Amino acid sequence: MRQRNRKHLDERLDNCAAIYSEKGDILDEAFLSHHPLHMEIGCGKGRFITTLAHNNPHVNYIASEMIANIIVLAAEKAKEMELGNIRFVSGNVQYMADSIPGGSVDRIYLNFSDPWPKDRHAKRRLTHKNFLDLYEKLLSPEGEVHFKTDNRALFDFSLESFTENGWELSCVTNDLHNSNFEGNVMTEYEEKFSALGFTINRLVARKKR
Ligand SMILES: C[S@@+](CC[C@H](N)C(=O)[O-])C[C@H]1O[C@@H](n2cnc3c(N)ncnc32)[C@H](O)[C@@H]1O
Repeated sequence: MRQRNRKHLDERLDNCAAIYSEKGDILDEAFLSHHPLHMEIGCGKGRFITTLAHNNPHVNYIASEMIANIIVLAAEKAKEMELGNIRFVSGNVQYMADSIPGGSVDRIYLNFSDPWPKDRHAKRRLTHKNFLDLYEKLLSPEGEVHFKTDNRALFDFSLESFTENGWELSCVTNDLHNSNFEGNVMTEYEEKFSALGFTINRLVARKKR
């Protein structure tokens, strides 16, 4: 049964081969040298990034997602929408550093990243210092990380992590939906958790150079 599912998944991913790869080889020079270049880490089912790609044809988008069973849904959405300005790469983003030239990304989105509440898992949080060092390498000098989450403990950890590691914060709010931020694009998790009554935290971070 598992094998049949896997085979089915492989076929579906093969159908998206023009925009999806397990490796960064899908990211050719022309795609990467296009500016602005934006990236979402942990794109899930892809509603956020495909909406942005549709609304902003002059921006190129890279979507990273660790789980193949999930990224396939995002890639199929983009294929159905006939989006030419988006590429999907599966696997842990920590192994993508060699596929993307340093300084080439103008914006990184982190949306509803896994909170990893146990201290011993802190290094897996996408706002841990090790990941911030990766973002610093990928981002252009004026590049920014845009982060939103319903999880207050992860948000507070992130505020501290960015600040301690020399990032400047702006647009900090604990209630995004009642702030003056315009043009918010909801993610799948955002819709689910805000409907349950959770407020959404948001920040923008830029490395001090
Ligand atoms: C809680 S989900 C949120 C999905 C989506 N961003 C949303 O808001 O609906 C977090 C996603 O991040 C992915 N993820 C976590 N760590 C990752 C990593 N190191 N590299 C790539 N994806 C990762 C997970 O597989 C999961 O699908």
